[in-house]
Amino acid sequence: MQFIFEDKKLNSIKADFEVIFIQDKNLKPYNEEKKFFKLNNFKGEGALLDTRNYKLFIELKGLSYEDIRLCFFNIYKNLEKLNIKSIKLPSIIGDCTVRSFCSLAEGMLFGAYNFNKYKKEKQTSTLEKIIISSQELNGKKFDLNEAKIGLERGQILAHATNFAKDIVNEIPEIYTPLKMAEDAQKLAKDHKNISCKIYDEKFLMKEKMNAFLAVNKASSLPPRLIHLSYKAKNSKKRVVFVGKGLTYDSGGLSLKPSDYMVTMKADKSGAAAAMGIIKAVSELNLDLEIHCILGATENMIGGNAYKPDDVLISREGVSIEVRNTDAEGRLVLADCLSYAQDLKPDLLIDMATLTGACVVGLGEFTSGIMGNNEDLQNEFYQSSKKSGEYATILHFNPYLKDLIKSNIADVCNVASSRYGGAITAGLFLDKFIRQEYKDKWLHLDIAGPAYVEKNWGYSNFGASGAGVRMCVNFLIHLLRKNK
Ligand code: BES
Ligand code: ZN
Ligand code: ZN
Repeated sequence: MQFIFEDKKLNSIKADFEVIFIQDKNLKPYNEEKKFFKLNNFKGEGALLDTRNYKLFIELKGLSYEDIRLCFFNIYKNLEKLNIKSIKLPSIIGDCTVRSFCSLAEGMLFGAYNFNKYKKEKQTSTLEKIIISSQELNGKKFDLNEAKIGLERGQILAHATNFAKDIVNEIPEIYTPLKMAEDAQKLAKDHKNISCKIYDEKFLMKEKMNAFLAVNKASSLPPRLIHLSYKAKNSKKRVVFVGKGLTYDSGGLSLKPSDYMVTMKADKSGAAAAMGIIKAVSELNLDLEIHCILGATENMIGGNAYKPDDVLISREGVSIEVRNTDAEGRLVLADCLSYAQDLKPDLLIDMATLTGACVVGLGEFTSGIMGNNEDLQNEFYQSSKKSGEYATILHFNPYLKDLIKSNIADVCNVASSRYGGAITAGLFLDKFIRQEYKDKWLHLDIAGPAYVEKNWGYSNFGASGAGVRMCVNFLIHLLRKNK
């Protein structure tokens, strides 16, 4: 899809279709169309297609960035089945800032996303040109340069988010740890400022990553630790992302009931988000140094599976009593976080579909933000709001810490109570964060929004690419603050 500005009035622009925004519920400015609206019982809500005059009337509810994303998603959805190549529209997008135009591109490109490779009948669309009149402003101030930056950023963010969705939606038979390693290498090949190192089980053994290795034991597929990195010439900060890359989570010997096992192909969403983030950062040329550490493995059952009752000695030297093999993500993350801290990050963020409890607590559309540094959490929360992702802070509580005590090891991989499961998982990870990084670490539990089995807002059934936009927006915020 191409986004183009034309320095002409709308009626001198050639396009197959025109988009007309309805911002005024009493429909005053639309005298000419009054009859047509009445005939179709259109009261300014939703959309109305006028195929005779090649016009789409669409409601633009408010001026928020989320309103813009939803509106443009709906524009795409209303037009995708028509045999048209181009549309034209005025530049009256929200407050006409970088973010407004960024949201425009996001909405459009999320509308264009689908995962249909396993369907015989594929939904395809011919729509490819979005022409925006830079003269049609309705009295609003508009800076073409800002608008262009916004569109560029929106496209990069949306493509990176859709890239993560493709990884998460892919089936477990195809998307193995080796496939993830292959994709990471391809990402590095396609972006000259990204490099990639792949480590196999021998490396994990040498590094004493016994918690990670235990999870992999009953899988017929080998694990991979994937290290992607990007460094700008004028790097201002070193940020390390750690992603849970469970290409399948059956629960292991603490086997999941069938209904809960479905969708566990999405347990690689943290790793997929990290890949999307580094892709976007590299395309935006942000003045940062970024590392992504992805722990890729399956959690399966078999005669050689790790067991409830096992005690694992992690890379940090912290011993872990296993009481439930389905709490595997935190084991993989424990060793990956240990490796990540050796890179001496200024900021360390892990992303994981870590707990069902987070979904129970926050609902399917919201991620949990955890950590020890309240200022950092607040800052992240504020910037996530603008990104279009929903997230909220789950505060650590000293009394919950007691729940992961073990009688025979330094920590237990499950809490003794099922209450507060998202936070006790976060507190488990905290055991592997060294004192000097305590305040530099954020844990994002994306178990809810990473994969939702229905259409919601501008996300389709399945993966939503959770984590990508909120993290990249936060990185942009950090750079602006640093100036
Ligand atoms: N991958 C799951 C968490 C999950 C659940 C993600 C639902 C997305 C949707 C994780 O590995 C898991 O199984 N966690 C257990 C932990 C429990 C055994 C303490 C859970 O949440 O039930
Ligand atoms: Zn699990
Ligand atoms: Zn899991």
